[in-house]
Amino acid sequence: MIKINENFLELQDSYLFATISKKVAEFTKENPNCKIIKLGIGDVTRPIPQAVLDAMHKATDEMGKQEDFRGYGPEQGYDFLREKIRDNDYKSRGVDIDIDEIFVSDGAKCDCGNIVDIFSTDNKVAITDPVYPVYLDTNVMSGRSGNYDDKTGKYENIVYIPVTSKNNFVPEFPKEKVDMIYLCYPNNPTGTTLTKKELQQWVDYAKENKAIILFDAAYEAFISDEDVPHSIYEIDGAKEVAIEFRSFSKTAGFTGLRCAFIVIPKELNGYTENGEKVQLNKLWNRRHCTKFNGVSYVTQRAAEAVYSAEGKKQIEENINYYKENAQIIKKGLEEAGYTVYGGTNSPYVWLKLPDGTKSWDFFDKLLKEANVVGTPGVGFGPSGEGYFRLTGFGTKENTEEAIERIKNMK
Ligand code: MLT
Repeated sequence: MIKINENFLELQDSYLFATISKKVAEFTKENPNCKIIKLGIGDVTRPIPQAVLDAMHKATDEMGKQEDFRGYGPEQGYDFLREKIRDNDYKSRGVDIDIDEIFVSDGAKCDCGNIVDIFSTDNKVAITDPVYPVYLDTNVMSGRSGNYDDKTGKYENIVYIPVTSKNNFVPEFPKEKVDMIYLCYPNNPTGTTLTKKELQQWVDYAKENKAIILFDAAYEAFISDEDVPHSIYEIDGAKEVAIEFRSFSKTAGFTGLRCAFIVIPKELNGYTENGEKVQLNKLWNRRHCTKFNGVSYVTQRAAEAVYSAEGKKQIEENINYYKENAQIIKKGLEEAGYTVYGGTNSPYVWLKLPDGTKSWDFFDKLLKEANVVGTPGVGFGPSGEGYFRLTGFGTKENTEEAIERIKNMK
């Protein structure tokens, strides 16, 4: 008899963005003439920058030549890319990272999901609430969640750290001891940030409690404020307590190309049952080499071009385009009388719904009356109830039209 991993039965409904797609598909079928504007999932709309395209064309041609052809590459990524990451993302900010602390992959979603493999199922997991659903669901799948409580919308063994307007979206330390702490800053979904001082407190907390911070920095390219760290390693002591996830998806428009990386410093240890230290870098390397055969050569050359002078310029233009969209959404909604958060160091705008309106009710109303798709806050966790997320990743024309339609809603 084939037995299943019963942890999967603890998962709630379908994956959030799959549920939304299904609802939109049903609506479209019933209303084929409606022009729907999608500001739901954080998917980019600007085409791949020319410098990146040129690098891909060149690499593709190389693959067709006997002398340049490449088969399997190093599982951790080619040195040409890891060196660029080290120099541009870290050295330039005064952070010393070795290339063998960088692992190139096909996406931060996969990295965030796969990282749980190297940790004991006994670890207590803390997530901010609302949260990017991948952190929670992958811990449910791997057996760290316990049972789901319908009344609270929470799993019994997960520690939820509310981040709402009540605490100005700054997470407070959990009352009970936790081992794995997920932090995503600039935050998905709220679009809010932590200052260096605030993040320092979390690093100190993790050190004191022998906990690890799983730091998702997928949206760092959107930071404009000086006081907001781009990498957790800008914070003293972070190399001893944090793994960082980075992505080319939102930075360089790679949602369809797929390339990301994870940083695991050699100073970072986990512990065996007997309290012996084990380098997490070694464990991850072992896992990565066994389960992953590397990102394609062409894609890694594309990622390398992100760091060229031309690439940087073109990418900055795209980021500014999305940031302007986020501002259009923020200002437009404020004019319409909504209370709005995020949208400044982030592509995401987090909207407080009026008069106790429920997130999914607003989703339905927005789809029906304005033909605009957003993401219901409660889909990111119970503390997201009464909130709603819109993204700046659409086209400018669609963003402006969507805001006009929302303003005109009754
Ligand atoms: C989001 O909309 O939250 C993200 O695009 C999802 C993702 O990056 O996987």
